[in-house]
Order: sequence, then structure tokens, then C-alpha cells
Amino acid sequence: MTATVPVSWEAEVDLVVIGGGVAGLTAARTASLRGLRVLILSKGGPTDTSTQYAQGGIAVVAPQGDSVDSHVHDTVEAGAGLCEIDAVRSIVAGGQAAVAALTDLGAVFDLGRDGQISRTREGGHSTRRIIHAGGDATGAEVQRALNAAGLPVLFGAAALRVMTGPDGVRGVVAVSDNGFGVVRTPAVLLATGGLGQLYASSTNPPGATGDGVALALWAGAAVADLEFVQFHPTVLYTPGGVGRRPLISEAVRGEGAILVDTEGDSVMAGVHPRGDLAPRDVVSRAIAERMRATGTDHVFLDARRIDGFAQRFPTITASCLSAGIDPVAQLIPVAPGAHYQCGGVLTDTHGRTGVPGLYAAGEVARTGLHGANRLASNSLLEGLVVGGRAGVAAAERLDVRARIEEIPSWAVEFADRAVVQQAMTEHASVVRDGAGLGGALARIEAARSVASPLDTAGGAAARSVSSPLDAVSGAAQSDQTGSGPGIFSATLRRIEDAALTLTARALLVAAADRAESRGCHTRSEYPGPTEDRRHSTAVRLGADGTVELSTVDVVAVPVCAR
Ligand code: FAD
Ligand code: SIN
Repeated sequence: MTATVPVSWEAEVDLVVIGGGVAGLTAARTASLRGLRVLILSKGGPTDTSTQYAQGGIAVVAPQGDSVDSHVHDTVEAGAGLCEIDAVRSIVAGGQAAVAALTDLGAVFDLGRDGQISRTREGGHSTRRIIHAGGDATGAEVQRALNAAGLPVLFGAAALRVMTGPDGVRGVVAVSDNGFGVVRTPAVLLATGGLGQLYASSTNPPGATGDGVALALWAGAAVADLEFVQFHPTVLYTPGGVGRRPLISEAVRGEGAILVDTEGDSVMAGVHPRGDLAPRDVVSRAIAERMRATGTDHVFLDARRIDGFAQRFPTITASCLSAGIDPVAQLIPVAPGAHYQCGGVLTDTHGRTGVPGLYAAGEVARTGLHGANRLASNSLLEGLVVGGRAGVAAAERLDVRARIEEIPSWAVEFADRAVVQQAMTEHASVVRDGAGLGGALARIEAARSVASPLDTAGGAAARSVSSPLDAVSGAAQSDQTGSGPGIFSATLRRIEDAALTLTARALLVAAADRAESRGCHTRSEYPGPTEDRRHSTAVRLGADGTVELSTVDVVAVPVCAR
């Protein structure tokens, strides 16, 4: 193997999983159970995931008074005509077994007075089917149980590039405190989570920088439905708050809280038959319109009528109290915030992309479950079901020998993060228009520079090569020349900026092309959906770095809910 990349460490496995949240760890577990040699790369620590922050719960068909058909119906209605009906049915039907596998691992869900698993309701659901843990700390329990499964994770290791050849995936180039590394593998699963950091304020952790979307595009895969960014209606508002913002779960409305404006009038009365529990896009739009009408930057959630609020919602209570708000006695100020990417890397319901050996699962993937708008609490469900299946599917690559002859250096385009976030926040939020989307794209494209992500290493060459698998199994790694926290953080920053820049460009091109309002994509100049736009938009990267659009036919049921 010749390398212009100064490689300090290397390994060979059957499957590299990029990401240590619900999707990645679930996939790693099913792959390991089938005997695959797995390595998980996670650029953060064990809880630096969106999974950790999930509050409301997991949507899974209840044993009584519910059915797969009902959950499918609610999902498809929220998805506004772009859900793939077979994918929805397959993933929803897989929910109970996936949750059982998680409880086998030790995850504990809240019980009701009858000793059965307690279920709440969230926006867009026709019944109480959301299971939860620790009151409003469901994600922390899911993450705890999966972290405790003893899977081989290399924390503080960021994937920079998926290497491919004519036979598909061959390996991953990564960086850690020990310098640059290469892992030879015929199968890579992208489980990198979302893109909330495209916006100035988001519910997502700092690492949600769209890396998986960019890694997929660079590897030649297609992404789809990227324009559908879900803005959660109730993110805790504090003046000037930016970065990761605390969420006020929809389950708070599920337990009876209502949205009121600064005059005390209901926001949702007369807007939708489900009132405060309308699908998320409907509620976020109604809040945005009310804020515009009243000239304010927030509304309020009135949760004072909920008995035992602090016991049912301990995480939210703590967030409110640290912002100086007592949710039992006071109104909670809230505003919509960037929350979830409904689209992503185009896959089947086993995580397969169009590139042999490249898989994607969890928030980074577009299976067809969410369509134009995700139904609340369907994300952990998807991560568990499709993550588990992708780990199994990766076994189909066991006969492929991943050869890497050389690792040439490469260049990426990146713009200043603040420029990207400002352009996206101003022009690609809850309500968009063509002129704004075009202007945002022009601003980001004008701010681009080109450099190798490896240049941050100062050109240092590695002296000897070690294996990250030693670190995973507890052995110490040697300190290499050209390594250290400085190289890791500088390279990570550059690759994240490059991912944000490419993801923003792809999203803006897709959003500008979608000349209609549908699901969580609202164009002020086009008030509703149009039947001839009832298809997904796929994005690929052209040879010259341009963003190319094409159409993905959607095999959907004829629902066009708005
Ligand atoms: P994540 O859990 O985000 O994990 C991503 C992993 O990828 C991390 O380990 C990260 O370090 C790693 N990574 C990223 N890029 C790289 C790279 N280049 N190299 C190496 N590692 C990388 N959904 C529900 O269903 N129910 C809920 O109640 C709910 N509540 C939510 C509340 C909040 C505040 C948030 C933010 C989200 C919520 N969601 C909820 C959504 C859901 O939590 C996420 O969509 C889901 O957890 C994503 O899981 P994931 O495995 O795809 O990614
Ligand atoms: C919430 O608890 O409101 C978030 C649920 C979700 O994003 O699915």
C-alpha cells in the first residue's frame, strides 16, 4: 500500500460502523452476533449523540387498541405524500421485536400503575403508543443500554473519507489523537446522525454536522429529501440562545399542555383537528405565523395543569429551572428550532445504498419512512429496526476482499461555519422562498475555499503504524509523530466545515427546486403541494463538484395532508 496520507495506524475488519448512537450500536451488535469483525468509529464520546438527548420516546405499536395499520396511517399522513408505503409498513411492523431486543440488553422503560409499559401520545399520533424511559430521558436509557453491550468502539476517531473501487467499498480514512489511520473493510455503515448544526440554534449536539451526507456524496451515493428539515415547535427560548438548545418534548403537550401566544390566546385553536397535537410541521408553521403576527420571537407553553410535572419530566424541569423558569408555576417560553433531517442517504430498508458495501441507517438515512415530515418518535424506532437489519446485511460483503493499493491525498471545499449557519438560518428555516434560497446558496458558494483535510497535520509523516483495535481492547496506543489532540481537532473542524458546506449546498439546491409547500418544506410563494411534485428529489455530486438533481419515484398511498 502506498500512501500520500501519513498513516499512523491501520486495521482490517469486516464492517466499519461510523457513529455510536442508536443506529450504529444496534447495527454493530447484530453484525457482531453473526460473527463479523466490527469496528465502530465515533468522533465524540459515548454520549455525544442525538440519541442521548431523545426525550419523548419510541413509537411502537401498542398491544391493545392499536395496530400496524394505524401506526402506518399516522406516519403516512404526517409524511405528506412522500412516504414509501412498503418501507413504512416494514419498519413499523419491525418495532416490537426491535424494542424486545433492546430490553433483552437491559433497557428499562417506564411502567404504568397497572405494571404494563406506560405509553404517551405525541403530535400526529392517533393513540397513546409512545414508550418512554426515565420520564423524559428515553434516549439516555437507550444509549446507556447499548453502551453497556461491550461493543468495540474507538471514541475520538472521525471518519474523513470512505474509499471505494470498482467493487465498491474498500476502506475508511480516519483521524484520531494518534494521527491519520486507515481501516480496510468491504463494508461501511454510515450512522452519523443529523445536520442540526447547519442552523444557528438546534436541538442537536455539536457533532450533528451532516458528515454522513457528505461522506456518501463524496463516495458517489445519492441523497434524497434533504430539503425536508423538521423544526421542532417547542425548543426552550432564551434571548440570544444559540448552539444546542434544550427541547421541551411534545409529550408535554401529549399530557395536556397548550401553546399560547404573548397575549394568552391559543396558538392552535382552529388550525388543525388535532389542535396542539397536530403534526409537527403544522404546529411549527402556526407558531411562526403567530410570532410574525404579534411581532415576537417566541410563544409560550402552558404546562401548569399537568399533575406531577417534575416527576414525569425531570430533564425538562431541570432545563427550565436552569434558565430561571419554574414550569409548574410559570409559562415556558418556546420557539421552533432545527431538530431532524427527514431525508438523507438513499437506502432500502436494510440500509443498502447504491454503492456496493456502503450502508446507512438512522437519521442520516432516507429509507422512505418519513417522507416530507417525520412523525414524532419514529426516529429511534427506525434506528433500532434498520440499524439492526443493516448489521445483518453487511454479512453479504464477507466474500469481498478489500484491497487498498494507495491512499492519495484529496481536497475538500469548505466555507466558514458562521457564514453557512447564518445563511441557512435566515433563508432555509420554517418558511422559505426562492429568492432567499438562491441568495443563501450564492453566499455559501462565494465563501468556499479548497484545501486538503490532511493539511491541518502540518505535513507530518508517521513513523510507525499501530492498530486502533489495541486501543479498543484496552491496550495503550503509541504516541506517533504527527499525532495529538491538535491534529485531531483541527482536522475534525475542517472535515465538519466541509460536510456542512456540501450538505448546505445540496439542501439549498433541492429546496429551491421544490416549488411547492409540502410537509416541513414551506415556500411562502407556493401555498400548497402540487400533484406533479409528488416525488422525492435525489442529489448526487457531479465530477466537477456540482450538485446534480434527479427524481425518485415514490410508491406511496395517495395522501397529501396539509
Ligand atoms: P446519533 O445518535 O446522533 O449518533 C451519531 C454518531 O455519529 C455519534 O456517535 C457521532 O459522534 C458520530 N459521528 C458523526 N459524524 C462522524 C464522523 N465523521 N466520524 C465518526 N463519528 C461520527 N427521536 C425519537 O424517536 N424520539 C424522541 O423522543 C426523540 N427526541 C429527540 C430529542 C432531541 C433533543 C433530539 C436532538 C433528537 C430527538 N429525536 C427523537 C431524534 C433521535 O434522537 C435521533 O434522530 C436519533 O437518535 C439519531 O440516532 P443516530 O444513531 O442516527 O445518530
Ligand atoms: C419530543 O420528545 O418531542 C421529540 C420526539 C421526536 O423528535 O421524535
